[in-house]
Amino acid sequence: MPEWLENAIFYEIYPQSFFDANGDGIGDIAGMRQKLSYVKELGANAIWINPLFDSPFLDAGYDVRDYKKVAPRYGTNEELIEFFAEARCLGIRVLLDLVPGHTSYEHKWFQESSKADKNELSGRYIWTDSVWEAPPSYKFVCGMAERDGNYLVNFFSSQPALNYGFHEITEPWQKPSDHPDAIRTKLAIMDVMAFWLDAGCDGFRVDMADSLVKNDEEKTATQRIWRDIRAMLDEKYPEAALISEWSCPQRAIPCGFHADFYLDHIGKGYHHIFRSIDEKTKEPVGFFAASGREDFSLFAEEFTADYARIAEQGYISLISGNHDTPRLRHFMSIPEMKLAFAFLLTMPGVPFIYYGDEIGMRYLPGLRSKEGGYQRTGTRTPMQWDDSLNMGFSTADASSLYLPVDPSDDAPTVASQDTDPESLLSVVRGLCALRHAEKELSGNGPFAFLTVPKHGEPLVYQRGDLLIAINPSREPAACRIPVDAGPIYHIGEIPVCQDKELHFAAQSFAVYRLCRN
Ligand code: GLC
Ligand code: CA
Repeated sequence: MPEWLENAIFYEIYPQSFFDANGDGIGDIAGMRQKLSYVKELGANAIWINPLFDSPFLDAGYDVRDYKKVAPRYGTNEELIEFFAEARCLGIRVLLDLVPGHTSYEHKWFQESSKADKNELSGRYIWTDSVWEAPPSYKFVCGMAERDGNYLVNFFSSQPALNYGFHEITEPWQKPSDHPDAIRTKLAIMDVMAFWLDAGCDGFRVDMADSLVKNDEEKTATQRIWRDIRAMLDEKYPEAALISEWSCPQRAIPCGFHADFYLDHIGKGYHHIFRSIDEKTKEPVGFFAASGREDFSLFAEEFTADYARIAEQGYISLISGNHDTPRLRHFMSIPEMKLAFAFLLTMPGVPFIYYGDEIGMRYLPGLRSKEGGYQRTGTRTPMQWDDSLNMGFSTADASSLYLPVDPSDDAPTVASQDTDPESLLSVVRGLCALRHAEKELSGNGPFAFLTVPKHGEPLVYQRGDLLIAINPSREPAACRIPVDAGPIYHIGEIPVCQDKELHFAAQSFAVYRLCRN
């Protein structure tokens, strides 16, 4: 386990939209490099960059055409390598995005695999034996290749699934996960990982990590592959971090991931704290929305169970959002977001901040889909640095920007929040600093919820000697938890302890150090 993860705070960068250094309207590596000091000042010490590899960009780069080549629009491999080095000098680790489940249909492996004549890449993807055969249980693309067969898709039709085999075999064209073709796919992905680790990256965020072996209900065969990959890494790159997009820590951590994201799936606990919407009124009702009232136990029960299951072996990653979810600001006002961040940055695990969330950037609804974004497009707009042209993102003509910037008069910017101690940006910086200063707030360690509010009561939890208390409601509130000194940190009014009860003002947050007797 890489030790640095214990104190990691991640910042996710969607490279298209962070900073455009050469004025062509799209973010680039040189731009990320110029903004490294911003990330450092925020208090993040690790970055995850969405895929920046050569691609036709039908899914924003999750459709990789060449795993070993930086897309020219972002720069060169050399520039990326220099970026790793410069980040390292600033104490910032960099994870790349690994897409092991599929490639672009323009990848040369797929071009070869599509040929009628059998060749060594014929089995790199999953094909049926004839174009007339397209089983209903999976997404297939029919009649698009010279080869007589249909290919299985992992996401969009431009993303053919790489072949890691099938666990349950129900058709003659399905091959087992220990078939030589499946093993070669695994080796090819290991080779990609080694390539970038040798170049100086610190590990990978792994896209759709659970998607490798098909008909693998319990994921045991997929886990076996990750165990093999982990063994290779442990031998050659023991410091390489692996973080999965799986949303099932009890499966991801035992097979070699160091952390697993909680994703915004309806019915999953994480959904209820930040992004829940009332079906009828369309009002946000997540626990951290002041009008909220979502039952916190829906999250607490899941988290507590997962935390106990994976204890000390890995981390749960809570995210402010990502490039797939509507931005937090869509569900919350700025005061509410402060409390949501206070929670995110004092909980156990490895927290992730999605670029722009730290200033409260808005989700921009109604944008024309860009690069397969569809409704996700509104979450991927350019970072708002200041009130200059294109909000400081790019010197290009506004019409040639990757996506438009927020047109509203009060669009938040870094510059307008930078020196204001009450701004969201300042609060997020303060919370990152608090997390770094208090070792009990690091990734692992003793943790318990002291209250599990069902109707919007205050939330209180303990991390070692620290007591953390949040009242997200618009109303004052109290709970039967006494403290005997003032808080070491707070947002909003300081809660008061009276008659062994802690009384909170509306929308307040405080951290106390408990005295040991
Ligand atoms: C993951 C990515 C998403 C992408 C999909 C297919 O969910 O986060 O952006 O479209 O995988 O690769
Ligand atoms: Ca550029």
